[in-house]
Amino acid sequence: RLTLHLDTPMVAMSPRLYGLMTEEINFSYEGGLYDELIRNRSFKDSAKTAAFWSLVQTPTSQATMSLDRQHPLNDAMPVSLRLDIAKAGAGVTNQGFWGIPVRPNQVYKGSFYAKYKGASSQPLTLKIESPDGDTVFAQTTVDPIGNDWKQYTFTLKTAGTPSANARFSIRPAGEGTYWFTQVSLFPPTYDDHGLRPDLMQLLAGMKPSFLRFPGGNYVEGWNFSNRWNWKETIGPAEQRPGHLSPWGYRSTDGMGLLEFLEWCEDLHMEPLLAVFAGYTLNTDYLTAGPFLQPFVDDALDEIEYVTGDVHTKWGAQRAKDGHPDPFPLHFVEIGNEDGFDLSGSYEGRYAQFYDAIKTKYPGLQVISTVGGKDWLGGRFPAPAGRTEIVDEHYYRNAWEMEAHAHQYDHYDRSGPKVFVGEWATREGSPTTNFNAALGDAAWMTGMENNADHVIMASYAPLLVRVDPGGMQWRSDLIGYNTLTAYGSPSYYAQALFSNHLGNAIIKTSADNVPTQTKDDKTIDAFFYSATTKNDTVYLKLVNTQSTAQKVVVDITGATWKSATMWTLKADSPTGTNTIDDPQKIVPVETTVKTLNQTLPPYSITVLQFMVQ
Ligand code: AHR
Repeated sequence: RLTLHLDTPMVAMSPRLYGLMTEEINFSYEGGLYDELIRNRSFKDSAKTAAFWSLVQTPTSQATMSLDRQHPLNDAMPVSLRLDIAKAGAGVTNQGFWGIPVRPNQVYKGSFYAKYKGASSQPLTLKIESPDGDTVFAQTTVDPIGNDWKQYTFTLKTAGTPSANARFSIRPAGEGTYWFTQVSLFPPTYDDHGLRPDLMQLLAGMKPSFLRFPGGNYVEGWNFSNRWNWKETIGPAEQRPGHLSPWGYRSTDGMGLLEFLEWCEDLHMEPLLAVFAGYTLNTDYLTAGPFLQPFVDDALDEIEYVTGDVHTKWGAQRAKDGHPDPFPLHFVEIGNEDGFDLSGSYEGRYAQFYDAIKTKYPGLQVISTVGGKDWLGGRFPAPAGRTEIVDEHYYRNAWEMEAHAHQYDHYDRSGPKVFVGEWATREGSPTTNFNAALGDAAWMTGMENNADHVIMASYAPLLVRVDPGGMQWRSDLIGYNTLTAYGSPSYYAQALFSNHLGNAIIKTSADNVPTQTKDDKTIDAFFYSATTKNDTVYLKLVNTQSTAQKVVVDITGATWKSATMWTLKADSPTGTNTIDDPQKIVPVETTVKTLNQTLPPYSITVLQFMVQ
């Protein structure tokens, strides 16, 4: 029996509980959300070879292909692909990220920088074609290339046949030497901002209120030169040198600061900006003081780029980059997981950032990455006197998530607010299975019941490329290959919770709550939360058991009407969605005549009804 005490004062809850967190992991941007189709567009992926590029010849052609550092386009683009054609007919192809996607009847936009040396430059033929070159999906030509570096643009209109495994080719008609760099090809993207539409639609379905970016480990980098250096991620793509992601592959930084901000704008999310804080994953760090100050100044400049008007230096730069209007910003996070910095330098580093940010931007709220009570066993206390919000990260299995569902019931309300900046039930691969969704749902009821104190939460990692070699971290929320994308059961659990959320917490109580036992430990097997907004109640019920559970719902101080129910369930905890079976587990909506429900085995239920 579950009672909703509507005659007891409600507790106001966070207006932005559910958000997103991403970083360059699992080919989240490169080969993922950032819809550049050319892999290794600036020829930096390998020092020795033109990785992902091939030389193609005809029976009579003679040509070689090599990397060239003698003819830099600029400081950011020092490498080019040199194609020496002794006998005409040869060309180069790019295989894309696990194939170039061909979506029928669309106009792809492309460009490259090129120069030519030889007797007679001839037009180039550009194609999207099958891996053997026999099927042509789109074709165009580009005028003869000149002797100096110049950007050439083109469009390619695809025909009616789709393909997940095409390649892009460039074939000069004549002979001579060609240099190419910054070769780029985009299909139509979401709001024309360069991001992959099907992934954006899935993300929009989660109704996220904020985006924590750019990491995660990605903001820290493996070492100082591979930190996320925001100033090298803005402006024209050919001015961005790119860098090595800590997850083992290069980022072009095409997904730069402005792209993150426009992503926020497109999905009506607030940016939650994580700034580099002087600590890198190889455990290098700067102690507080003059050597740290340039990084503090960088963070202040970054905040100005986000929020400053066009009369400020960095606001003017943002306008020049194409976005005159400032973006809203309320939260800045200092670093990421600095509890791993065993030197103890964080307290001083945090203080230096905090004081500088608060002096210039007193309205901003600053987030500490250490000080979580349960995170890393509370290894370090929150930085003294300056902690408003603490970021805690939890990666657990379903049992642990369920065992900790009441964790926040006991947090001291006079302490710092909690941002669960990364959390996930890690079961299933590459995306989660239904047991993970059950753990997630149990955990989310705990966050909702405490959403006066737990003010924000973002699942991680969000995205995974499911092709071989695409995943560095298993149990992710959304999977995709070249042509299609899907949500895991955890995705649907989170979307259900986020789309049915009030602005106040209803006091609840329950008796005869079923339990589950493992290794002599007994925990709940039924979880619930209730929130309300404008006389609508959102009740979430989670049955982690293999048997149905009957729930009687009582309401004190009100009567109810018009109930709708969404049920997400699976036949077994290992049930899941996959790239080939993407809709196996999805919510089913029904209209119900009673709040007393028999919850199916392994199920997540949301009941929405009006009260008066
Ligand atoms: O989400 C994967 C990684 O987990 C993040 O980069 C890091 O912050 C955490 O350790």
